[in-house]
Amino acid sequence: MKITDRAGQIAPFYVMELLEKARAMEEQGEDIVHMEVGEPDFATPQLIKDGAARALAQNQTFYTHSLGIRKLREKISEHYAKTDHVDVSPDRIIITNGSSGAFLLLCATLLDKGKVLGVSDPGYPCYRNFALLVDADVMSLPVSEDTGFRIVPEQLADSKTVPDVLLLSNPSNPTGTVYPETATSALYDVLAVRGGVMISDEVYGGICYGKRARTALSISSDIIVVSGFSKTHAMTGWRLGWMVVPEVLVRPVQKVAQSVFISPPSISQFAALYAFDVADDLERMRKTYEERRNFMLPRLRGLGFHIPSDPEGAFYIYAGIQKWGLDSMEFVQRAIDEAKVALTPGYDFGSFHAGSHIRFSYANSLERLKEGCDRLEAWLGR
Ligand SMILES: Cc1ncc(COP(=O)(O)O)c(C=O)c1O
Repeated sequence: MKITDRAGQIAPFYVMELLEKARAMEEQGEDIVHMEVGEPDFATPQLIKDGAARALAQNQTFYTHSLGIRKLREKISEHYAKTDHVDVSPDRIIITNGSSGAFLLLCATLLDKGKVLGVSDPGYPCYRNFALLVDADVMSLPVSEDTGFRIVPEQLADSKTVPDVLLLSNPSNPTGTVYPETATSALYDVLAVRGGVMISDEVYGGICYGKRARTALSISSDIIVVSGFSKTHAMTGWRLGWMVVPEVLVRPVQKVAQSVFISPPSISQFAALYAFDVADDLERMRKTYEERRNFMLPRLRGLGFHIPSDPEGAFYIYAGIQKWGLDSMEFVQRAIDEAKVALTPGYDFGSFHAGSHIRFSYANSLERLKEGCDRLEAWLGR
């Protein structure tokens, strides 16, 4: 069977391969500490689950409107008015199959052969794969600790090519970087002058430890914002996200969505109507992540990992492993085989720091994180 070049170019997702290896080892009776997966370890808040149960009992099991149910779009609009004091018409809000669904629809609508998607390196690996699927080119913008792992305007202003679409992740995976509003705004100014479109991925927007990451919608209604319920609401399996787009994009995106997804999942949408009434649950989860982060940072630094600044959002720590002189791929393979700790190599996030960095996810209980750090300490001390 002939596989397309496009599919051939998609790099393996090492975090998934490590997870699969960990699961296989667990089936053989091994005990693995998971610090690889980027998925909340909490159950979805009860109110949302009750909403789903009611929707099921009421047979809400049909396709919905392709843009999502109106009531949910209104709830999201109210959420922006309440939390960020920005006025976003429900007409500009499109419900999607996870935020991943939004990226796919946006790339299909905005990119093409010869167009360029700008992403940070290190950055969330799927972005570049969405671009590949529509034959677009990827422009990697290397970021380092010197700029707090942020893309800076000079990188766009000084470059011959300007990306047609720039994708920012705020807070970001894998570095936990938060872009203050002034930083996003400065990037947007340089991009917009040169005709580029900005997409702000705010899927971790509710998981911040200092100042909250303000939505980029407060900067301009021309910025596209993608968000979702997976991370903040512990709803990864419900596959529900949304995007806010400028009015002119609604119809083009809708036409693609009708063909690709027909509609977002119905039960998940009816359940999510209650997602804006669980503030206490969200704060409990956010605080728990913060406690874990506050435990992990000094512990990992004490072991010799290079972590120049504290991550301000999401649930990841991007750490340098220069001290041990091992390539990150060898480091994570040996960590799982010898210390029984699953980690993610830098190669998942680009090529700039790939060999010298790994990512820790602290979406695991404090007890298991302590166990994982103890195992790493014993292993690295050998
Ligand atoms: C930065 C970022 N954006 C988007 C996603 C996709 O999330 P979902 O499709 O579950 O909304 C992830 C998942 O790990 C992520 O890390």
